[in-house]
Amino acid sequence: MPSTWLDFWQQENEFDNSMSANYAYFLDRVEQYAPLNKTLRVLDIGSGPANLEDAWHDRVGELHGLDISQRYNEIARAKHASHPNVFFHDIPADDYLNFDVVAGKQFDLIIVMSVVQYYRNAGEVEKLLANIKSLAAPGAKALVCDLIVEEGVLGDVLSILGRSLRQGKLLSMLNLLFRLRFSAYYKIRQDNGFLIVPKSEWLAMCKRLNLNARFVDEPITMQQERQNLLIQF
Ligand SMILES: C[S@@+](CC[C@H](N)C(=O)[O-])C[C@H]1O[C@@H](n2cnc3c(N)ncnc32)[C@H](O)[C@@H]1O
Repeated sequence: MPSTWLDFWQQENEFDNSMSANYAYFLDRVEQYAPLNKTLRVLDIGSGPANLEDAWHDRVGELHGLDISQRYNEIARAKHASHPNVFFHDIPADDYLNFDVVAGKQFDLIIVMSVVQYYRNAGEVEKLLANIKSLAAPGAKALVCDLIVEEGVLGDVLSILGRSLRQGKLLSMLNLLFRLRFSAYYKIRQDNGFLIVPKSEWLAMCKRLNLNARFVDEPITMQQERQNLLIQF
């Protein structure tokens, strides 16, 4: 049984097939902040089973996914084998802020969705922001999404249940939460927790790095109190 988040993502898990419902909610909203076009070069940090690439492979110029999970990257590569503009890169699980695999590239849109909570500390988050800055083309945008900025597991659960009810997906969400309760995920969450970085700390980091950033006003992920940071280069 895995004991850390890094190990968790290397193994088959409850999120393999269930992330797409959450992702559809985001896809319906993201384009008002990041309009797409056929020349856009997109970087997807923590790309998982390729939800973004599935939706956008024929709507943008190039898509590059980065993930510590070779298992997800293999699944993702198999799905996109016939798409020459879609790439998945392995990043080292023990050195996950080393983005050498895309060194020298420039991106017009950088998405980080539901990943930062698995980092170890805020110093790593600041390094992520510095990496994003070094990979952003002039005029680029970055969206760092689904951020946990305050304590409150119950609020998180109630919020996703309420939103699932409104989306007509309550039963599948209850099913997922039930399976999670008895899975490695629950134990790892108890032992390791999620990284929580308050909004003020995010903004202070952006200021130190001289980034033009703000939190998006409306929720763009199913968990409504999670926050989404938009950076404009
Ligand atoms: C909840 S999933 C989200 C996947 C995808 N972004 C989505 O929303 O469908 C978290 C993903 O982040 C990856 N991940 C976890 N920690 C990471 C890290 N430190 N660096 C890069 N990816 C990481 C996991 O392997 C997994 O694919």
